[in-house]
Amino acid sequence: MAYEFIQVEPQYQPHTALVRLNRPKELNALNLQLMGELRDALKELDDDDNVRVIVLTGNERAFAAGADIKQMAGKTAIDMLNIDQFSTWDQIKKTKKPLIAAVSGFALGGGCELAMTCDMIVASETAQFGQPEIKIGVMPGAGGTQRLTRAVGKARAMEMVLTGKFISADEALAAGLINRIVPVDIYLTEAMRLAADIARMSPVAAKLAKESVNQAFNTSLDEGLLLERKNFYLLFASEDQTEGMQAFVEKRKPDFKGR
Ligand code: CAA
Repeated sequence: MAYEFIQVEPQYQPHTALVRLNRPKELNALNLQLMGELRDALKELDDDDNVRVIVLTGNERAFAAGADIKQMAGKTAIDMLNIDQFSTWDQIKKTKKPLIAAVSGFALGGGCELAMTCDMIVASETAQFGQPEIKIGVMPGAGGTQRLTRAVGKARAMEMVLTGKFISADEALAAGLINRIVPVDIYLTEAMRLAADIARMSPVAAKLAKESVNQAFNTSLDEGLLLERKNFYLLFASEDQTEGMQAFVEKRKPDFKGR
């Protein structure tokens, strides 16, 4: 499918797709069309059996500087209600395959929220994270108050959301928001390396494991444990489980097929 504001390479490397946000002049500000394209692309990649992991990136200067302020500026509350831009985000959240954000430069507002919607974040040394919506008279609307608080704790989340100040990659790592920091020239390579490590695993197990970890944010411990247990048992219906355990016994590398 042809997109205007994103670029998609379904086989950037074996079993790994790359999606690049591509509105460089606007620092990848997330307008409605871009988000619709992203939703469609992620759904297509999620349904593609040859794809096991998806990496989402921007460019060196910006992952994304937030929702498109110019597009929102003249809107009324009822316009916003009718447009319902965040229903697109709800679809993106449903992506079952592991999603890695490769972040360099600005990840602000909706950009930070989009990175946090991913399962892991690999950052360059220049990455900056922030929820600066308060500076333009609003507040995070795509999960920032919830996901940031869960990731970095109340004290830091409050400070970021109430002052709009950015945090550096180092601070983000110390706070537990991101997985690792690498030099800017290799941040995408590093994200792809992480993707390759995951793509070697059983894709069935990866999907159910992702679902189970995410459930930790949604339920009580007992309900989470129940889902984990059911998913664990379910994997014994997969050929990948047979192959994985057989390969261990035979002292060879498993060849997972995603079945
Ligand atoms: N929306 C629309 N356009 C944006 C944008 C955004 N979020 N962020 C940057 N741009 C545009 C700028 O308007 C500018 O365009 P022009 O050249 O046409 O003027 C271009 O991108 C380059 O930006 P700057 O000249 O401002 O670059 P800078 O290096 O001086 O500053 C910046 C960079 C600090 C990121 C600054 O652009 C900025 O503060 N951007 C807005 C960040 C923000 O407030 N994000 C939150 C948006 S609201 C939101 O996301 C709600 C939600 O929860 C979903």
